[in-house]
Amino acid sequence: MKNYLKHDEWCVIEEGFNRENNEITESLCSLGNGRMGQRGNFEETFSGKTLQGNYVAGVYYPDKTRVGWWKNGYPEYFAKVLNAANWIGIKVELDDEVLDLNNCEVEDFRRVLNMKEGYLERSFVATLESGKKIKVCTKRINSIVDDESGVIKYSITPLNFDGKLTLTPFIDGDIKNKDSNYDEKFWDEVQKETGFAESYLELKTKKTGFHVLTGQKFEIIQDGQVIDFQSLPIKGEKFVANSVSLHALENQEVSIIKYACNLSSENYAVESLLSNAKKYLSRISAKGFDMMIAEQSRKWAEKWENNDIIIEGDVAAQQGIRFNIFQLNQTYSGEDSRLNIGPKGFTGEKYGGSTYWDTEAYCIPFYMSTSDQQVARNLLIYRWKQLDRAIENAGKLGFKNGAALYPMVTMNGEECHNEWEITFEEIHRNGAIAYAIYDYINYTGDKAYLAEYGFEVLLGIARFWSQRVNWSDHKQKYVMLGVTGPNEYENNVNNNWYTNYIATWCLKYCLEVADFVKNSNPTRYEELVSKTNLKDAVEFEQFSHIIDNIYLPESKDLGVFLQQDGFLDKELIKVKDLPATERPINQKWSWDRILRSCFIKQADVLQGMYFFEDDFDIETLKRNYDFYEPMTVHESSLSPCVHSIIAAKLGDKARSYEFYQRSARLDLDDYNNDTEDGCHITSMAGTWLSVTKGFGGMRVKDGKLHFSPFVPENWKSFSFKIGFRGNILNIITNDDFVEVQNMSGDAISIVLYDEEKIIEKNQNIIVEQQDFISV
Ligand code: BGC
Repeated sequence: MKNYLKHDEWCVIEEGFNRENNEITESLCSLGNGRMGQRGNFEETFSGKTLQGNYVAGVYYPDKTRVGWWKNGYPEYFAKVLNAANWIGIKVELDDEVLDLNNCEVEDFRRVLNMKEGYLERSFVATLESGKKIKVCTKRINSIVDDESGVIKYSITPLNFDGKLTLTPFIDGDIKNKDSNYDEKFWDEVQKETGFAESYLELKTKKTGFHVLTGQKFEIIQDGQVIDFQSLPIKGEKFVANSVSLHALENQEVSIIKYACNLSSENYAVESLLSNAKKYLSRISAKGFDMMIAEQSRKWAEKWENNDIIIEGDVAAQQGIRFNIFQLNQTYSGEDSRLNIGPKGFTGEKYGGSTYWDTEAYCIPFYMSTSDQQVARNLLIYRWKQLDRAIENAGKLGFKNGAALYPMVTMNGEECHNEWEITFEEIHRNGAIAYAIYDYINYTGDKAYLAEYGFEVLLGIARFWSQRVNWSDHKQKYVMLGVTGPNEYENNVNNNWYTNYIATWCLKYCLEVADFVKNSNPTRYEELVSKTNLKDAVEFEQFSHIIDNIYLPESKDLGVFLQQDGFLDKELIKVKDLPATERPINQKWSWDRILRSCFIKQADVLQGMYFFEDDFDIETLKRNYDFYEPMTVHESSLSPCVHSIIAAKLGDKARSYEFYQRSARLDLDDYNNDTEDGCHITSMAGTWLSVTKGFGGMRVKDGKLHFSPFVPENWKSFSFKIGFRGNILNIITNDDFVEVQNMSGDAISIVLYDEEKIIEKNQNIIVEQQDFISV
């Protein structure tokens, strides 16, 4: 756990240069706009600890799989989000001495990520080896208005000399992914061009053939005036630059404003990339830096208007939740159904591919409540578009008749994961994809989605489960053998309760949806029957037989569901009895020891009880929580939030808050010692869920919003805004009362602490805060 950043409500602030933590701060200070993003790297040369990272959404490379022991069925490659051309670079030389903070004495260093207005700022005073002292201030954005561009203002003031200052803004495409399996570079150069104060570099990915054209254009300001200058074009391998030398004067500021764009062949015809980049840069440079910054600030204000969570009385918690909301908005803007949310977003390379079950299980509820309904719909459509690939994927593993197995990790629908116990066995991911459809319909009421797209996906998934179970003569039940549940610290187990439960639920939901589509839209139903070659009478009867006869392991004595067959044979130890020196166990223990132990990486049985909470009474939930949580090490970032929500439901406010804190400041405090690899973007949605579903007790039941809020002990009050079926509600809770404001839309009926209330348009209701009522 680290504590070198200042607590502030709206900013992430580093004061004083923490060289050793630089890669962590780079992850935290990442900027993104849904289309492109980059880590909080320095513009100038830096020879110290750094991971230079620039990413363009949807542009990936199939890196050849590297495994020790090849298993049949492994995918040939692992699709990786590509580290792309570095567009922020500006080399700074003072009389031929290169500015590099690794070789300077640095004073007054400050790096600030301003989340309110969406920019990154840095200032410092550096004394170079020659004794020359300069002051530098930089500010940059990844524009969310012109979302294929960014702009930087980089200002230098000599403090103790007059002399030659050379600025060389560049684009460097000679980039390698840190995690490249065979140390290969994934980009080829297509063309480059340099002109006066502008340059362009077009690169193409090997194999996948994505083209990305990166362009830069700049101007120079000295003593407050835009000046004329000579620019020397430079071309190298996958490299373009323009060099400008000036006579700088003591105490006189020189600034360069660098506009850059990244256009990809995903959005433009390849042959038009260069001309479009030129137009793009002319347009944004005509707007100018100040205007781009002002627009950015306005657009972020609009986002915060509907997204913000305000916490009074706890600055660290306030900063934590805003950081999470900010990063989620930077990662995915929801306009493009080809894109998804990578576990690291644009903040690092780990986890390579883009899409995990994290999107459906954790992220969709956030986007559903804080953005237009279409955003969550696009995330569902993304999977619908990949249905054929999921069917192909299941086919490779021997499944038939339209059975679909969605990949564990994917960019384009194909599986890229290659550890047998996960690729072939962590199949519960299929269930989360079905669950997200249910969740979306439950929240939005958009039932049209089911006939349009949803049913086909549900059928493919249900068919998979119906083939994946087998009849056990011994048990006289259906069983599911050889799986890995969400708790990846158990592999190849039989009858993982969570997987069996969600599989059966998928079958039930598929039947329910089939019925709905058949009755509400018989023509479409017939169309789908023929498209999917559905023999509904026979197939549905088989589904029903499985539903009625599935085996769900439980211990009647303990009154708990069993994570899997044989769980009670383990030595049942509590995490609190493990010496601190042995944790995290994934770094301290051998894998076999982890597998044999009772320790649980993340919610497993409890994940199921969280999704399907209405199927269980509160006592059953409590028994299972009391049994499993003490054995849970929470070594996945996705774990604390689920526990926070369950603890809140059980009335354990203190524990609920403890889990919240762990999730909200996971990256800011580098809780798991891994923020340098990038931020945990998908678990950030879980943090948001801890506040809304946990402390806010928010649920949607029968088309109605329910709330049952309480204020965590350290806070004075908190409020969150959500969009729901055309309304925007603001829910404010303090120790005395709860106020719900109906900020837009018609009158709405909600359930607050079990009582139905109607709130008229633009009105509010206030009720007394109640100690504890479980939702
Ligand atoms: C978790 C998975 C998750 C993945 C990506 C793993 O550590 O166990 O559930 O999908 O990280 O976030």
